[in-house]
Amino acid sequence: MDEKMSLTDEIKRRRTFAIISHPDAGKTTLTEKLLLYGGAIHLAGSIKSRKTARHAVSDWMEIEKQRGISVTSSVLQFDYDGCRINILDTPGHQDFSEDTYRTLMAADSAVMIIDAAKGVEAQTKKLFKVCKERGIPIFTFVNKLDRFGKAPLDLMDEIENILGIRSYPMNWPIGTDGNYLGVYDRRRDCAELFAADASHGQEERISETFAMDDASMHERVGNEAYQNLLDDITLLNEAGEGFDLAKITSGELTPMFFGSAMTNFGVKNFLEEYIRLAPPPSPRKTSVGEIDPASCDFSAFVFKIQANMNPAHRDRLAFIRICSGKFERNMQVWHERSGKAIKLKEPQQFLAQDRQIVETAYPGDIVGLFDPGVFGIGDTLTAENNKFAFADFPVFPPEKFARVSAKDTMKRKQFAKGIEELTQEGAIQLFRQAGAGTDNFVVGAVGQLQFEVLEYRLKNEYGADIILNPLPFETARYLRFPDGREVTPAALKGIDRGMFVTDRRDNPVLLVANEWALGWIRENNPDLLLKEEPF
Ligand code: G4P
Repeated sequence: MDEKMSLTDEIKRRRTFAIISHPDAGKTTLTEKLLLYGGAIHLAGSIKSRKTARHAVSDWMEIEKQRGISVTSSVLQFDYDGCRINILDTPGHQDFSEDTYRTLMAADSAVMIIDAAKGVEAQTKKLFKVCKERGIPIFTFVNKLDRFGKAPLDLMDEIENILGIRSYPMNWPIGTDGNYLGVYDRRRDCAELFAADASHGQEERISETFAMDDASMHERVGNEAYQNLLDDITLLNEAGEGFDLAKITSGELTPMFFGSAMTNFGVKNFLEEYIRLAPPPSPRKTSVGEIDPASCDFSAFVFKIQANMNPAHRDRLAFIRICSGKFERNMQVWHERSGKAIKLKEPQQFLAQDRQIVETAYPGDIVGLFDPGVFGIGDTLTAENNKFAFADFPVFPPEKFARVSAKDTMKRKQFAKGIEELTQEGAIQLFRQAGAGTDNFVVGAVGQLQFEVLEYRLKNEYGADIILNPLPFETARYLRFPDGREVTPAALKGIDRGMFVTDRRDNPVLLVANEWALGWIRENNPDLLLKEEPF
C-alpha cells in the first residue's frame, strides 16, 4: 500500500474529542463506559476508584499522586469498530485551570454532558463558549436518565436559550421520567429497550431492538408510554430542527442523546452515532495557510505542559497534538520558536493507567514528549523541510488574581526566575503594576488550582517561598484608545475602581471586581476600547 493511502486511512478513522461538563454531571462515569465498550478495560471502575481518593488539599503533588495518571496523562485512547478514539481529559472541580481550556484546542469535537436534573450549569457554559468560538462540533449527552430529571423538551429549550445552540435529538427516551425503558432511535426509526441492569453498570447493558410496529414492543412499554412517544416524535418532526450534518460539523447544531452512563443506558448507541457523525482531523490554520492533515509532512503543536511527578529531576511532559503527517519515534523535527531542530525521543502515550512508548502516531493523536525546558504552550513542531507556525494560541481571560512576592528577599533571584519560567510554561499569567518593583507581581489564573501549583512549584523547584495575597478582582480587560494615544493610569478616569497593570508584552490591562465596575469605567471613559484578549 502506498504511504499516502495509509496515512489518509489513519486520519479518516480518528476521532479526537474533549468532554465538557460541570462537575458531577458524569464525565468520569461516561469516559469509563466508553472505555468499557472499546474493550480498553473489562470492568468499569478503575478510573473511578482513583477519583474517589480526591479531595481539596493544597499540596498539589499529593493531589497528583493520589489521582495517578488519569489527571497527569491528559488522554485516553481506544479502538472501536475500526476507529481510533482519543478522549482528552478536561480537569474540572478545583482542578479547573487554563489547561482545561487549552485542551479544547487539541480536540476536533466536544462531548457536552448535561445532568438531566440540573440542566446547563456554570462550568459547562464556560467550556461551551470556547468550543463555540472555535466552531467545533458539539455532541450533547443528557445523562442520568435513570432518575428524575427535567423533561426532555425543557432541556432542549434550556440548551437553546442559555447556550444559543439548537439541538437535534438523535434518540428520545421511552417511558416516564425516572422510569425510562429505553430509547427511540430517530434515524433508524426503531426502539431500543433495555433489559434490567443486573450489574450496576459494570457490564454492557443488554438491549433489544424493535420495529415501531412490533406488537411486543407496544405491549412491553404499555399503551400510555407508546402513545406519548408517538406524540413526541410527531412534535419533533414537525416543529423541531431538521437533521443537518453540515450544521453539526460547523458547530451550529448539536446532536442530542439521552442516556445514563451509570446504567449504560443509551451509551453504546451514543458511541456509535458519535463515531459516524463526528469529523476526523481537519485542516488547521497556519502562517502559510491551512495545513491538510494528509499532507505528508509532519506537524504538531504543544497544547499543554505538565510538570512531572518527580520535581527533583525537573522533568516535564509537553503534550503535542499531531496535525499532519506521520509521527515516528526518534524523528528529527523543527521547533519553530527556538529555530532549532530537535529529536523526539521517548514519546509517550497513555492507555488507562499505562504509559507506553509510541513508535508511530497520526493526526488527531496526542503524544507526550519529555521536555528539557524548551517547549512552551502553542509552540509549533514541523518537518525540517516545511517550516511554518500554527495560528496563535488563544489567551484565556483570567478570573482570579493575586499579588505575589518572595518571602525571603535573599531568594529574589530564584523567585523571579521561577515566575518567569512558569509563566512561559503557561502555568500562570503574569502582570506588572507600575512602580511595584521586580520582586512583586500580579498573577492571574482561571482557577484556584493554578495558584496552588505556583506556590508549590516555586518552593519545590526554585526554593522560593512566596507570599500570595488574593486580589478582589474577577475580570481583566485589555485597553486601547482608538486614536492610538498611550493608555496610562493618568489618562483614565475612575481607575481607582480597579487596578492598572501591564501584561508580559507591556499591553495595558485593567483588573476590576465585576461587570458593574466595568460599566462604571466604560461610562467615565467613553472613548476607551476594552477587550477580553489582547488587541
Ligand atoms: P464527573 O466526573 O463529571 O464529576 O462525574 P462522575 O462521573 O464522577 O459522576 C458524579 C456522580 O454522578 C457519581 O455519584 C456517579 O455515580 C453519578 N452518576 C454518573 N452517571 C450517572 C447516571 O447515569 N445516573 C445516576 N443516577 N448517577 C450517575 P457519586 O455518588 O458522587 O459517586 P459514587 O458513589 O457513585 O461513586
